[in-house]
Amino acid sequence: MENIIKDIDIINGAEANACDFQTTLEENPESAKKLYIESYGCQMNFSDSEIVASIMKDQGYGTTSDYTKADVIFLNTCSIRDKAELTVRKRLSQFNHIKTQNPDLTIGVLGCMAERLKDKLLEEEKLVDLVVGPDAYRDLPKLVSEAEEGQKGVNTFLSREETYADISPVRLNSNGVSAFISIMRGCDNMCSFCVVPFTRGRERSRDPRSIVLEARDLFGKGFKEVTLLGQNVDSYKWSPEENNKARLNKKEDSVEKIIHFADLLEMVAEIDPGLRIRFSTSHPKDITDEVLYTMKKYDNICKYIHLPVQSGNDRILKLMNRTYDREWYLQRVRKIREILGDDCGISSDMIAGFCSETEAEHRDTLSLMDIVRYDFSYMFYYSERPGTLAAKKYADDISPEVKKRRLQEIIEKQNQLSLSRNRQDIGKVQEILVEGPSKRSDQQLKGRNSANKVVIIPAGKFKKGDYVHVKIVDCSSATLFGEIID
Ligand code: SAH
Ligand code: SF4
Ligand code: F3S
Repeated sequence: MENIIKDIDIINGAEANACDFQTTLEENPESAKKLYIESYGCQMNFSDSEIVASIMKDQGYGTTSDYTKADVIFLNTCSIRDKAELTVRKRLSQFNHIKTQNPDLTIGVLGCMAERLKDKLLEEEKLVDLVVGPDAYRDLPKLVSEAEEGQKGVNTFLSREETYADISPVRLNSNGVSAFISIMRGCDNMCSFCVVPFTRGRERSRDPRSIVLEARDLFGKGFKEVTLLGQNVDSYKWSPEENNKARLNKKEDSVEKIIHFADLLEMVAEIDPGLRIRFSTSHPKDITDEVLYTMKKYDNICKYIHLPVQSGNDRILKLMNRTYDREWYLQRVRKIREILGDDCGISSDMIAGFCSETEAEHRDTLSLMDIVRYDFSYMFYYSERPGTLAAKKYADDISPEVKKRRLQEIIEKQNQLSLSRNRQDIGKVQEILVEGPSKRSDQQLKGRNSANKVVIIPAGKFKKGDYVHVKIVDCSSATLFGEIID
């Protein structure tokens, strides 16, 4: 999933992140009632759908990949850009005809659009029965049964505590090798362009013991890689006082000291050297040297950091309320290179055409990209979001044409950088984790190296879940090609 999003983003640039959807697997074909979930937006949303599937499974719902067979359809939605919301609106209109054919069908809008629009969604989209925000999924069984009685429902309560720590997700988005683990929810950063603090609420960290248990359980089931997810993983923090509040309260293993992200990484890395650890997203203001040293200490923590810069210009960064400047960011990148070396993958998110951005300021973004030499980026043009600080304070005054042209320049720059970074890998021997057959041919396998790059190899005797040593022999801007050497 992540790979598809990444490829599309690099090739087509903007918005792919927000348009991909995922149908569900036949998780429990015998169950009487069927749930169909489609997920949009970020990895956190995909991870939430797995929690939703688990809550519904306890009510006897199995998942289906065929929405025409479903009793309940959920769209887990994203509000990050206007286009993301439009995609969901279009999708809803496609469901109109099945609702006419099957009036008993329940249709729910979950996630960030539900949180942003609340009961307005029920007025605007007549076929919708339920509107449920990201912290209210435990209420889904009740709301669904009320909907079955013909009563529409809304729950968009945002919590300061909910982390779904005790819920064991149904792995819908997984290839059986790699899985997501949410380690925190919400965001307190208030970047001026961003809707997430409004749709996801206050930042809160999940009990580290429940995270380790989940990772250990996954490894026991044959998974080889976990990605720890949060909007800002570097501000993960669990303090001993929270032991008392935790659902997983067991006196004998209470946490005695404050756990920061570096400690959590270490706890997960210690589970087994055969379990790879990834994480996303790192905020440049928060990523500490301790995190970098912990990454260095453990071979099984992947050498890859998603460190979104958004803009390379100090005035724009200030308007964006990112709370770091260009020099701070570049100093963080130098530290990454110093501690983890040049092979550590670094990627970014970029916004083209933010309010009042001049040509010279846009060129600062391009020049910063040249200095950092990102391996890849997710690239967008600015989309004003109602209710955000930027929407209230600044005019969205860059024309769509200029935004698109600037975005195109950023994409072209990134394509050149990706190709040159990938060329640097040719001749190197790397360990990859095989994820399955390649899209093009079943004679080839697709894997990923530590730096999160996709590597295609001849199938040989290997299968998904294997670690393989390969020599990189060729590349494109999106992919490496390797030969097996063991
Ligand atoms: N927590 C992450 C970002 C989550 S949103 C971080 O701080 O880096 C993912 C990306 O969407 C952002 O990094 C930003 O590049 C983009 N984005 C967010 N709001 C946007 C908007 N209003 N218009 C365009 N892109 C936006
Ligand atoms: Fe949005 Fe900023 Fe929070 Fe990221 S850190 S989710 S961009 S407010
Ligand atoms: Fe979108 Fe919400 Fe994620 S707005 S990017 S689904 S947190």
